[in-house]
Amino acid sequence: MKTILTYGTFDLFHIGHLRLLQRLGALGDRLIVGVSTDEFNHLKGKKTVVPFADRIEIVRALACVDQAIPETCWEQKVDDIKQHGVSIFGMGNDWTGRFDELKAHCEVVYLPRTEGVSSTHIRKTLKILDQTHVEELKHALDLISSIIDRFD
Ligand code: CTP
Repeated sequence: MKTILTYGTFDLFHIGHLRLLQRLGALGDRLIVGVSTDEFNHLKGKKTVVPFADRIEIVRALACVDQAIPETCWEQKVDDIKQHGVSIFGMGNDWTGRFDELKAHCEVVYLPRTEGVSSTHIRKTLKILDQTHVEELKHALDLISSIIDRFD
């Protein structure tokens, strides 16, 4: 039984997340995914749109994922590797080199990220759309007030 372990926030779940998890799952027999809790993200200075309970439920429901566990701190990785008998620890290659110390406990791989998509990019797009919406509402209100003024 070859077990693979990975971690991530998986906010606004997107195609880059799916492809990474599918490719990691294909490396062995069992994929375990640690999903960062809201408290841990707060520590990392990361604010999510989707709350932890929903993010972990989405990850757990994927066909390529066998188990989803909470990620509550940086230090839990070695314990998780030992507890679950992990053979491969894997992350996207934006993390290359960052977890090499885990090579003392299992194989460590960094897989290529999917180009052109990230939770940060989606969050920024949502913000821009929101601002555009506010601008449109302001214009509509200005128009209504000018019509009302004409009747005064
Ligand atoms: N990932 C990927 N391809 C992407 C985005 C993410 O392979 N386009 C991988 C990351 O390398 C990581 C995992 O998905 O191993 C979870 O990453 P996460 O930080 O949750 O996703 P991001 O979209 O990178 O989120 P953010 O922009 O908030 O950092």
